[in-house]
Amino acid sequence: MNKKKNSPQSKNGHRPKPDLSANCAGIKSPNPFWLASAPPSNSGEQVMRAFEYGWGGAVWKTLGQDPPVINTTSRYGAIEINGMKMAGFNNIELITDRPLEDNLREIREVKRRFPKHAVIASLMVPCDRQTWHEIVKKTEDTGCDGLELNFGCPHGMSERGMGSAVGQVPDYVKMVVEYVKEAARTPVLVKLTPNITDVRYPARAAKAGGADGISLINTINSIMGVDLNTLKPKFAVDGQVAHGGYCGPAVKPIALHMISSLATDPEVKGLPISGIGGVSTWSDAVEFMLLGSSSVQVCTAVMHYGFRIVEDMIQGLTDWMEDKGFSKLEDFIGKTAPNVVDWKRLNLHAKTVAKIDPEKCIQCDLCYIACNDTAHQCIAIDRKNGNKTPYVIEEDCVGCNLCAIVCPVDNCIEMKPVETGNKPLTWEEYTAKGFKGYREVYKRFHE
Ligand SMILES: Cc1cc2nc3c(=O)[nH]c(=O)nc-3n(C[C@H](O)[C@H](O)[C@H](O)COP(=O)(O)O)c2cc1C
Ligand code: SF4
Ligand code: SF4
Repeated sequence: MNKKKNSPQSKNGHRPKPDLSANCAGIKSPNPFWLASAPPSNSGEQVMRAFEYGWGGAVWKTLGQDPPVINTTSRYGAIEINGMKMAGFNNIELITDRPLEDNLREIREVKRRFPKHAVIASLMVPCDRQTWHEIVKKTEDTGCDGLELNFGCPHGMSERGMGSAVGQVPDYVKMVVEYVKEAARTPVLVKLTPNITDVRYPARAAKAGGADGISLINTINSIMGVDLNTLKPKFAVDGQVAHGGYCGPAVKPIALHMISSLATDPEVKGLPISGIGGVSTWSDAVEFMLLGSSSVQVCTAVMHYGFRIVEDMIQGLTDWMEDKGFSKLEDFIGKTAPNVVDWKRLNLHAKTVAKIDPEKCIQCDLCYIACNDTAHQCIAIDRKNGNKTPYVIEEDCVGCNLCAIVCPVDNCIEMKPVETGNKPLTWEEYTAKGFKGYREVYKRFHE
C-alpha cells in the first residue's frame, strides 16, 4: 500500500505536497470539503466566511419558489450519547426561508469574489417542466458551478409533492432530471433520499435521466423521543411533533453503505458521487472517498463546531496522503469499494478467535458477561487463588467480535486469524457445487 518510493520527487529530493483539488462530476474545487445544503450555507456572508476558513465548495441552502416558506419554532432536536451533544441530529426545517432574489444576488457575489471555489445551487420546485426550466435558468445566470436537485428532504416539502416524494419514485426522478437537463448548462447532481428500500433504483433513474452525478444521503425519517414528565414528544412545536430528518455521526454507517452500494452497482458505477452523512473529521471524509465519493459534504459537524473544523480536515487529509504516498485524490477514490460484496461472496472458511491480553485486562467482567449471556459461552475465569482474569476457550469461540467490542481497554482483546487448512469457500461456490441447506454446512464445520 505504501507507495512513497514510487511517488514523484522534486529536484531537491522533497516530494511535492499532495494535490487536494477535487473534481466531482465536472464541478471543480480546491479541496473535496463542501458545505452541505443546510443552515451553514444559507447566505453569501456565511459561505464567503466558510471559504476564507478553507472550505472548497458550498451547496447553497435549497432554493425554491417565492413566496418563501415559513419555518416552525422549534425545528431542531438531538440525542446525546456519552457526552457527545449531537451524536444524532434531527430537523424539521424546510428549504430556504429567504427571498429567491436575495439568494441569487448573493450567489453571484460569492462567485465573483471566490471564482475558484465551487458554488452549487440546490433546487426544489414542483414537478412541472416549465417551472424547472425557469429556476434552472435563473440560478445558472448567477455563474454558479453546478446544480443539486433536492429529491431528499423528508418533511414538509414532501407533503407538497417535492423532496423525498420525488426521490422515492424512480420514474419521477428520471422525469425531473430530464426536465433539468433540457435547460442546464452546468453539471447536475441529484441528491437522493435514504428513506427508500433500495437506493440503487432512484440512482439508476437519475443516471437514465442524464444526471452528471449523485449526492447522498439526505436525512433519515426520525422521531427524537418522548418527555416522560409531560408525556409529550421531545423537541415539540406547541406540544406536537412531525417526523424530522436524522443526520450527524449516528448516520455515517448508513451513508457509507448506500454510497458503496452505488459505487459497486454495475448500472450506476462510474457516476460521480458526492458523499454526505455524518462526516465530522478528515478520516470520516477519507472513508467516504475510499468507498467512492469524489467530494464530501458536511452539515451537522459544522453546526456543532463551526467553520474552522475544515482546517483540521485539510491538514489531516494532507498528512494521510503524504503518509500513504498518494499525490492526488484520484489515487485513492473508490479503492475500497470493490471489497464491499454481497454476503454470498464472503469466505465461509475464514476464522478468527478472541485472545485476551492478561497484562492489559482490568477484570471488569464485561467480556465474560457478553459472551456468556449473548454469544457462545466460551469465556471462562479460573477463579483459583483469587484470579479474576478471563480467558477464551478457543475451540468454542466463533469469532463474533462481541467481547472485543465491549472491552473498554484498547487492544486488550484481539481477534486473531486462525489457519484452518481449508481453502476459501463462498456460499455462492458452495451452492454451485450442488450442496443445499444448513445441515450440510453444519456438518462440514462440526464433524
Ligand atoms: C437543519 C438542517 C437543514 C437542512 N436543510 C437542507 C436543505 O435545505 N437542502 C438539502 O438538500 N439538505 C438539507 N439538509 C440535509 C443536509 O444537507 C445533509 O444531507 C444531512 O444533514 C446529512 O449530513 P450531516 O450528517 O453532515 O448533517 C439539512 C440538514 C439540517 C440538519
Ligand atoms: S468472539 Fe464472540 S464467541 Fe468468541 S469469545 Fe468473544 S464473544 Fe465469545
Ligand atoms: S472486557 Fe476487557 S478488561 Fe474487561 S474483563 Fe474482559 S478482557 Fe478484561
